[in-house]
Amino acid sequence: MNDMNVAKFIDDRPDAGVFRVSRALFSDPELFALEMSHVFEGGWVFLGMSSQAENPHDFFTTTVGRVPVLVTRDKEGTLRAFVNSCPHKGARIASQPSGNAGLFVCPYHSWSFASSGECKAVKWESAGSYGAGFKQDDHNLKEIGRFGEYRGFLFGSIAADVAPLEEYLGEARHMLDLAADQSDEGLELVPGRVRFTFAANWKMQLENCSDQYHFTSTHPSLIKVLERRAREKSEAVVESSLSGADFWKGMKTDDIVAGSYSFENGHVVTWGKMEANPSLALFERRDALVEKFGPERAAWMFNMRNLTLFPNVQIAVNAATQLRVIRPLAPNLTEMETWCLVPRNESAEARRQRIRQYEDFFNPTGMAIADDNAVYEECQAGMADRQNAWLQGHARGLAATAQGGDALSQAIGMNPQRSISGTSQLADETLFQSYYREWTRRMGEVLA
Ligand code: FES
Ligand SMILES: [Fe+2]
Repeated sequence: MNDMNVAKFIDDRPDAGVFRVSRALFSDPELFALEMSHVFEGGWVFLGMSSQAENPHDFFTTTVGRVPVLVTRDKEGTLRAFVNSCPHKGARIASQPSGNAGLFVCPYHSWSFASSGECKAVKWESAGSYGAGFKQDDHNLKEIGRFGEYRGFLFGSIAADVAPLEEYLGEARHMLDLAADQSDEGLELVPGRVRFTFAANWKMQLENCSDQYHFTSTHPSLIKVLERRAREKSEAVVESSLSGADFWKGMKTDDIVAGSYSFENGHVVTWGKMEANPSLALFERRDALVEKFGPERAAWMFNMRNLTLFPNVQIAVNAATQLRVIRPLAPNLTEMETWCLVPRNESAEARRQRIRQYEDFFNPTGMAIADDNAVYEECQAGMADRQNAWLQGHARGLAATAQGGDALSQAIGMNPQRSISGTSQLADETLFQSYYREWTRRMGEVLA
């Protein structure tokens, strides 16, 4: 552990206009173990949506770093998050992704637990000749260190000594509000989850969701299909996820059509201008949204915007909305779980349109995600080089970055730490710096 100094991985010298990241950050196995304990198990992470456990006794399971987690709604309706591990000998007491259970019976020796976490029975307890120590032990499931909800989004921390959830979300919460405000009844997930892996480091995904620079290079087949649909004026034009985007039309213009904001605690969002138009499922609610929230806030709801809440959740909005949860498995292996995030009670027609757009772009079977996964693996191969350690992918946009917000962020009362906006070809890469500054903060003294 003697050469684990942060300077080996991140070269952050703002006064000199330098920000560089080392290839080792994406491939060092020792560092990966520290990331699990400090970045993922040492602070707030996204767990899921409250709609995933809607009714009493509903539950879902997830993982925080290496720790299995069980989220339940007890019979009184309170959401709780537990370490999904039996106090007896450690077995996971729930192995299904989700379900409904008033009683969880451990598969190994049948200790049983209520959805409130209370131990209901230790099998054959009275015949077991236990000593006094065992009788004094608490046999209930252990709640994780911290657990909280913001507008249907559930977050937890294995470590208890963390700032309150509101502080962790900070100004980035405005972006969650833009999603949650789309329906008076809140958000839900389209049933059916998608899980896939790619053979690369988790931070590839972290960066890619906010990487506007790669779009025209990595996704030529998607672009060709969109162009063909437009040329043929086929019915599918209405359904294509990006055909209505002004940032897309503006690829060769000088207009300010895209940008990014960086927030406290490692959160970032990239945005691209998109007018409300009938190709968007949300268009049916445009007038109601303008009336309720005013024209500027309503306009934001139609913009393309890719939000990352450090370290493990991304909400990608371009027509359809994708919820992405990042789960690192190894330095060079990452599991993704993705969902179509929707406003409740939209019309059947809007829901149909939204799901078609989602499939078009987002699914591993769609036209964009498979491209991204392929380039992550290309990058990972190159991370083996230690002779030329420093990557050059975090400097673009540095001279255009401004402290604080701008007119667009002010329009929704949002105060980011930094902002940048420009043509579609500016394609800022400095917002990734926020990830690595928060990464450094969470890693703390282990890298001192
Ligand atoms: S490990 Fe759960 S009852 Fe034995
Ligand atoms: Fe992409």
